[in-house]
Amino acid sequence: MKQLSKQETRKHVSCYQYPRKNNIKSKVACAPSFSLTPFLPVYLTGTKYSCGSGGCGACTVMVSRYNPKTKEIRHSPVTACLVPICSLHGAAVTTVEGVGSISTRIHPVQERLAKCHGTQCGFCSPGMVMSIYTLLRNHPEPTLEQITKAIGGNLCRCTGYRPIVESGKTFCEETTVCELKGSGKCCMDQEERSFINRQEKICTKLYNEDEFQPLDPSQEPIFPPELIRMAEDPNKRRLTFQGERTTWIAPVTLNDLLELKASFPEAPLIMGNTAVGPSIKFKGEFHPVFISPLGLPELYFVDYTDDGVTIGAGYSLAQLSDALHLTVLEQPKEKTKTYRALLKHLRTLAGAQIRNMATLGGHVVSRPNFSDLNPILAAGNATINLISKEGERQIPLNSLFLERSPEASLKSEEIVLSVYIPHSTQWHFVSGLRLAQRQENAFAIVNAGMSVKFEDGTDTIKDLQMFYGSVGPTVVSASQTCKRLLGRPWDDHMLSDACRWVLDEIYIPPAAEDGMVEYRRTLIVSLLFKFYLRVRRGLNKMDPQKFPDIPENSMSALEDFPIKTPQGIQMFQCVDPYQSPQDPVGHPVMHQSAIKHATGEAVFSDDMPPFAQELFLAVTTSTRAHAKIISIDASEALALPGVVDVITAEDIPGANNHQGEILYAQNEVICVGQIVCTVAADTYAHAREAAEKVKITYEDIEPRIITIEQALEHNSFLSTEKKVEQGNVEQAFKYVDQILEGEAHVEGQEHFYMETQTILAIPKQEDKEMVLYLGTQFPSHVQEFVAAALNVPRNRIACHIKRVGGGFGGKVTKPALLGAITAVAANKLTTVITCIGFMNNGVIKAADVEYYINGGCTPDESESYLSYKVDEFCYIVLKSDNAYHIPNFRCRGRPCKTNLPSNTAFRGYGFPEAAVVAEAYVTAVASRCDLSPEEVKEINMYKRISKTTYKQTFDPEPLRKCWKECLEKSSFSARKLAAEEFNKKNYWKKRGLAVIPMKFTVGFPVGYYSQAAALVHIYLDGSVLVTHGGCEMGQGLHTKIIQVASRELNIPQSYIHLSETSTVTVPNASFTAASMGTDINGKAVQNACQILMARLQPIIRKNPKGRWEDWITKAFTESISLSATGYFKGYQTHMDWEKEKGEPFAYYVYGAACSEVEVDCLTGAHKLLRTDIFVDAAFSINPAVDVGQIEGAFIQGMGLYTTEELKYSPEGVLYSRSPEDYKIPTVTEIPEEFYVTLVRSRNPIAIYSSKGLGETAMFLGSSVLFAIFDAVTAAREERGLTKIFNLKSPATPEFIRMTCVDQFTDMIPRDDPSTFTPWSVRVS
Ligand SMILES: Cc1cc2nc3c(=O)[nH]c(=O)nc-3n(C[C@H](O)[C@H](O)[C@H](O)COP(=O)(O)OP(=O)(O)OC[C@H]3O[C@@H](n4cnc5c(N)ncnc54)[C@H](O)[C@@H]3O)c2cc1C
Ligand code: FES
Ligand code: FES
Repeated sequence: MKQLSKQETRKHVSCYQYPRKNNIKSKVACAPSFSLTPFLPVYLTGTKYSCGSGGCGACTVMVSRYNPKTKEIRHSPVTACLVPICSLHGAAVTTVEGVGSISTRIHPVQERLAKCHGTQCGFCSPGMVMSIYTLLRNHPEPTLEQITKAIGGNLCRCTGYRPIVESGKTFCEETTVCELKGSGKCCMDQEERSFINRQEKICTKLYNEDEFQPLDPSQEPIFPPELIRMAEDPNKRRLTFQGERTTWIAPVTLNDLLELKASFPEAPLIMGNTAVGPSIKFKGEFHPVFISPLGLPELYFVDYTDDGVTIGAGYSLAQLSDALHLTVLEQPKEKTKTYRALLKHLRTLAGAQIRNMATLGGHVVSRPNFSDLNPILAAGNATINLISKEGERQIPLNSLFLERSPEASLKSEEIVLSVYIPHSTQWHFVSGLRLAQRQENAFAIVNAGMSVKFEDGTDTIKDLQMFYGSVGPTVVSASQTCKRLLGRPWDDHMLSDACRWVLDEIYIPPAAEDGMVEYRRTLIVSLLFKFYLRVRRGLNKMDPQKFPDIPENSMSALEDFPIKTPQGIQMFQCVDPYQSPQDPVGHPVMHQSAIKHATGEAVFSDDMPPFAQELFLAVTTSTRAHAKIISIDASEALALPGVVDVITAEDIPGANNHQGEILYAQNEVICVGQIVCTVAADTYAHAREAAEKVKITYEDIEPRIITIEQALEHNSFLSTEKKVEQGNVEQAFKYVDQILEGEAHVEGQEHFYMETQTILAIPKQEDKEMVLYLGTQFPSHVQEFVAAALNVPRNRIACHIKRVGGGFGGKVTKPALLGAITAVAANKLTTVITCIGFMNNGVIKAADVEYYINGGCTPDESESYLSYKVDEFCYIVLKSDNAYHIPNFRCRGRPCKTNLPSNTAFRGYGFPEAAVVAEAYVTAVASRCDLSPEEVKEINMYKRISKTTYKQTFDPEPLRKCWKECLEKSSFSARKLAAEEFNKKNYWKKRGLAVIPMKFTVGFPVGYYSQAAALVHIYLDGSVLVTHGGCEMGQGLHTKIIQVASRELNIPQSYIHLSETSTVTVPNASFTAASMGTDINGKAVQNACQILMARLQPIIRKNPKGRWEDWITKAFTESISLSATGYFKGYQTHMDWEKEKGEPFAYYVYGAACSEVEVDCLTGAHKLLRTDIFVDAAFSINPAVDVGQIEGAFIQGMGLYTTEELKYSPEGVLYSRSPEDYKIPTVTEIPEEFYVTLVRSRNPIAIYSSKGLGETAMFLGSSVLFAIFDAVTAAREERGLTKIFNLKSPATPEFIRMTCVDQFTDMIPRDDPSTFTPWSVRVS
C-alpha cells in the first residue's frame, strides 16, 4: 500500500462507508439531494451508517413536522441515509444525542435498552433508541404490538432482538413479566421452586426494573416555536438550493408546483425519496433539477365520502395506514375489504421508517414491480386524480397504468393529487396475498391483489381481476384469464381452468432475473387457490344454505401467520449468597459500554474526528471471475476533481502476496470483486466517482470455476485432504442391516456485521511508522500484513481497536488485507457426501463422511476451516461427530479452490456446517427405521466417559443433562402429540418439532494459539487500567474482564478502566475467536492482578483495615512496582494428523435445543412458535452476557439455516450484497416463546470454572431447520410421498414450498436445464 504524500489517509475498505466530514454549507453547495447522514456534524457520531439504502435502520433519526392546517406535530422515524438534506427545511431533526447523553441526562429509552442488555456491539443501538423513542413521542404508553412494529425496520446482528423488545415492553401498560400463566407472576420465580441445595438455586431476573427512571413525556424537548412560525407564515416563498450540478426547488403553493412541473417536466418530485434516492445512489441516475413539494398542504388530506376514500398523494404510507384504520373502524365490514387488504400489506411493507417516509403518490407513480399496494389498488378499482396547469383529470389505476402504457400514464407535466379508493360492495371480494423471504421488511417473492364481483345473490362471476407483482418487469394483470372466466360459477372447475390459463398467460422465463422460477410459478397458482378459498368461505358466510363451506382441512390455507410480540424467560444460577457483595463475578452485569452504545457516545473507527487533509480511498474491483488484465487506464479517473492518486500493485513497497493473500490483482484476476486498484481523493464521493472511471480490459482465462462440482471436475483444491478414522468402516458396512447414501448441502452465510469495515491509516513523519485505527478481531495479523506490505519491521506499525461493531469471524483475517477483499466475501459453503450403515433398531454402526467446501480463490481461513496450514488442524473433520458415538467412523474433507472471493470463517468455525450433517443422517436413519429422530439420537448419543474419533477423552454427563432437561422442560412428547393432532386436521399448515443435542468444541488444536497476555497498571489515585490482547466486539469480553479484575484486586468495578486493545500495549496477541476471549485473556488479567496483589500483600497485612487508595500510596512510597504484565500460556492442545489422534480442544460445551415451527405448505412461509435452549455454562461469570451470546448466536444460526441465502451468477457475481437481497432475521422471525437456561456443571480448566459460550448456540439454530423438516415430512407423508430427502440448508420458503409437492407444484411448466443458463447457480 502506498503512503499518500505523508497525509493522513482514511482507508474506506467498504463500498458502503460514507464520510461525515465537511460542514453543512459546503455540502449543500455540492449536491442538494444528498442525504442527511453526511451533514450531521462530526461531533454527532450517534447516527450510524451501515447499508445506506434504508434497509437496516442504523441511521434512524426522528423528524418532526408541524401541520399548520391541523396544528398537529407529527414525529416520524426516518432513515437519515435516504432523507435529502434540503427536504428537511422547516422540520426538526432529533438524533440520538438529542434524546439523552451521559453528560446531560440519559433518557429512559436509552437506560432501559442498556440495562435490559439490549446492546452488544452497540452499532444498531442508536437506531433502536430512535425507533422506540419516536414511538413513545407519539404513544407514551404503547401496546406490545406497537413495540414490535416500531423496531421491524431495525436490524441487529448481535442480540437476537429479545432483550430489545423487552426494554421496549417496559413502557407498555400490559404486563411484562412472564405472561404464560396469566397470573401476573413469573412461573419461574425462584420462591415458587424448591431447590436441593444453594448451588442449584435458579434466578430469572437479568435486570432490576426498580432502577429504571420513569418516563415523563413532559420532559421532552418542545417543537421549536420558530418552525411553527415558519410553517404558519402566510408569505412563504419558493425555496431554491443551488448546487454544483443540481438544483433543488421547493414550491410553496400548488400553482407554483404546477408551474415548476411545466417548466421542468423531467424533474422528479421528491417526496419520500425512497425510490429516487436509491436509484441515484446505486444505479447512477442523475437529475439536474429536483422539485420538492413536501410542504404543500394540498397534498395532505383524507376525504371520506359515501362511496370511498380519497387520500392525498403526500400522505406517507404510515398516514395512509392510519386513515384506512379509521375507515375500517367506522364503515361496515363489507365496504372495507380493499382497505383491509391494503392494511395487511402495509403492516409488513418495509419497516416503520420507510413507511413513514414513502408516500402514496410516490408509490403509485414509481410503480415498482414488487409493489405491495398497487396490485390491491388496481383490483379494488382505485383511480388516480391528476392535476397540471391544464386542469384536472382522473385515470384508472389499472393494468395499462401499471404496465406503463404511455397512453394510460401521467403526462410529464402532471402530478398525482390524490388517489381515490372506492368501498367494496356486498358481492365483491378483495384480497391481498404475498410471500417474502421473511415476514417483514422484505420485498415480496410474489404478491398479488385479486378481486371478484358476483351477480347479486349468486356465485356467478361478473367481474374478476388478478394482478401479480414480482413476476415480471412490472406488476402484471392476468386479464385474459379473468375475461375467460366471466359468467362462470366460483367452483373447483373454474379454479382448475383459472390455474391452467393463468400459468399460460403469466410466463416467467427459465432464466428470469431473481431466479426461483419454478417456485414463483407455483406461487402464482398457490396464491390464486388461497384467494379462491377465501372467497368461497366469504360466500358461505353470506348464505350458508346456498354456498357450501370449504372442507374443514382446507381452513388452514386461509390465513397468513400473525405477527406476535415475542416473550421468554432466561434461567441461570443465582450467585452464592455468601459471596462478597462487592464481587461482581456471577452477576448479570450490564455491558460496560451499554449506556454509551445507547446514547451514541461509543466511538467506532468511522466516528473518529477527521484529520487535516484526510484522504478517502475507493476501490476498483474486478468484474471477471478469472481473466488476464490486459490494461488499466486511470487517466479519466485522475482528471476528476479532488483525485490525488491511483494506487496499484506496482506501488507496494513490500509484499503484494503475503501468505497466499493478494492485496492488489496483478496481471490476473481470480474472482469478481478482487481489488485491482484504489483511488485516493479528497472526499469519498470523489474517490468513488473516480474509481468507477478506471477502465480495465480483460481477457478471460479458462477454466472459470464457480461451484464445488466444477472444482471437483477440475481437481481444484486449496489443500490436501484431512481425515480421521476409527474402527473398520469397510468391514462394518458388510454387517449392517441398511446403508444410506446421500448428499447434504449447506450454503454460505454473510457475516452482515453492522459496522462495515473501516480503516484509518495515519503515516507518521518519522521512522516509517504507521498508526491504524480499525475494527478487527486480530490486530497482530493486521500489523503483520501492513508491515509486510510496507516492508518495515512490525514495531513500526501500531494498531488500535476501541471496539468492533460486530465481527462473527468476518474481521479475523479480512481487515489485514486492508479491505482487499471487501464486504462481499465472508462465508462458508459446504457440500457433504455421506454413507451411513445402520441396524434396523436405529444403531448406527458405520459412517463414511466426505466434506467439500467452496473456499474461494485464496486460502484465507479455508485451510484452517478444514485444516490449518500451520499445524494442519482440521476443524470440520474434527467436529463432525457432534454428540454421537459411531464405532466405525471415517471423516474426510477438502477445501475447493474456485474463482469466488476468498471465503473466511464464521462464528462456530465449521461446527454449524459439520454438526448439522450428523443431525441430517441421524434423522434420515430414524426415518428409515420408522423410529423418531429423538429415539435414534438417544440410542447413538455419547453416554459415558468416552473417546472421540481422534481419541480425546471426555465426560458427556452435561450433554445428557441438557438433553434430558430439554426434553422434559419443553414438554417435548406432549407437544409432539399435539402437533400430530394439529397436522391431522390441517392439510395446508403443518407443525414440526425437533430437538438437537450438541457437543461443541472450544479452542484450537494448536496450544500456543491460546496464549494471552495482559498489562495492568495501578495509578496513584487507586484507579486501575487494564489492557489485554482481546478485542471487544459486543460479546462482553471487556465487561467480563473488568469483573475478573474486580474480584482479583478486590475493588469495585468502578475503579477499573479498559480503554482499548492495541499492539503497542500487548504484542503478538492471538485472534479473538473460538469462544476463548474471556478464557485466555481472563487468565492473563487474573495473573497480572495476582502478581500485583502479591506485591501489595505485605502492605495490606500491615494495615488490613486500610483503604485500597492508602495501600497504593504506601506501595508507591516503598518503590513497589504498580504495573504488571500477566500471561497465560494457553491450553495444552495438540493434534497429530499422521496418527489421526490428539487433544485438539480445550474442552466441550454441551447443550440441547428444541424448536417448534408451523409451515404454510401453500406458500412456503414458516413461523417459529417456540424454542427452548439448554446450554451447559458451567459457572457463568456473567449470565446476562452469556444469555445474550446464546440468544444472539441462536438467531444468527437460525438465519443461516432458514432465511439467509447467497446468490451467485453463473459468472461468479454475488447478487446478494445488501439488506435488500440478503435477509437476516428481523424481530418478527424470533421465536414467539423463547426460553434459555444456563445449565450448571464444572470446568476446572477455565477461569472460575466457566465456559466460553460465544459461538455455541449458532448450531442450535438448526433445531429450527429440523423442525421445518419434521413439518415438511408430515406434509409429504399425508401426500403419499417419500420421507427422506437430502438435507438442504437454508430451508427457505422456496425449499419448503417446492418440497411440499401437490397439485399446484405438479401443474407448473418445468424447463429442461440444458436449454438455458439460469440467473443464479448453487455454488456449494
Ligand atoms: C428499504 C426499502 C424497502 C421497501 N420495501 C418495500 C416493500 O416491502 N413493498 C413495497 O411495495 N415497496 C417497498 N419499497 C418501495 C417503496 O414503497 C417506494 O419506494 C415508495 O413507496 C416510493 O414513494 P416515495 O414517496 O419515497 O417516492 P419518491 O422516491 O419520492 O418518488 C418516486 C417517483 O414518484 C414520483 N412522484 C412522487 N410523488 C408524485 C406525485 N404526487 N405526482 C407525480 N409524481 C410523483 C417522483 O417524481 C419519482 O419519480 C421499499 C423501499 C425501500 C427504500
Ligand atoms: S444506513 Fe440507513 S438504513 Fe442502513
Ligand atoms: S448490538 Fe445490534 S448489531 Fe450489534
